[in-house]
Amino acid sequence: MTQDELKALVGQAALQYVRPDSLVGVGTGSTVDKFIDALAASGLRIAGAVSSSNRSTERMKALGIRVLEAGEVDSLPVYIDGADEIDGQGFMIKGGGAALTREKIVADLAQTFVCIADASKLVGTLGRFPLPVEIIPMAAAQLTRRFAKLGGEARLRAGVVTDNGGHILDVTGLSITDPLAFETEVNQWPGVVTVGVFARHKAQVCLLGGADGVRTLTF
Ligand code: A5P
Repeated sequence: MTQDELKALVGQAALQYVRPDSLVGVGTGSTVDKFIDALAASGLRIAGAVSSSNRSTERMKALGIRVLEAGEVDSLPVYIDGADEIDGQGFMIKGGGAALTREKIVADLAQTFVCIADASKLVGTLGRFPLPVEIIPMAAAQLTRRFAKLGGEARLRAGVVTDNGGHILDVTGLSITDPLAFETEVNQWPGVVTVGVFARHKAQVCLLGGADGVRTLTF
């Protein structure tokens, strides 16, 4: 199976976590695009979706899915999203699509985070994928020096402005052995809007697509 087919497989499998007439949080990325397509095609009636990006909002609206603002809901039973890396405990790196801040906000509303990914995303230790960090632009040089002290090399993602008007640093060379401690530390640095380590908002379930079909990991 191609990577695209694996993404379609887990996008389809995620439908089992969407309850009829309930709300669903919807993430961002090429895997989530498959979930959105599957949701629209399923005919499943939902109360509405809370979206983590303009990209997903536009896709859902075009397919007739009702989209609500985050502020209109108190909580969500489930949040479906992809990841750039996920480890054996459900900790993730996210933000390859620059939507990490809104993704963390929507994940925070959800009772269960269901990660959908192809098997290439499963890693032993987070950090091979360059860590995205949304920042306030004036802090870029200062934050680059801070990451260097941790052994990381931060580069500004050229030409990218997030849905929130922020910039993205991509940090290579990190080995994130304690994701909770790392997220807590980096969150304190002035100028950081959101760090792309999802440890406090980790996945409870991962639907992993591989040659043998969909494997369900629970954490
Ligand atoms: C978006 O900002 C990211 O967090 C995505 O969830 C992540 O990059 C996965 O994207 P793909 O499904 O396109 O691999």
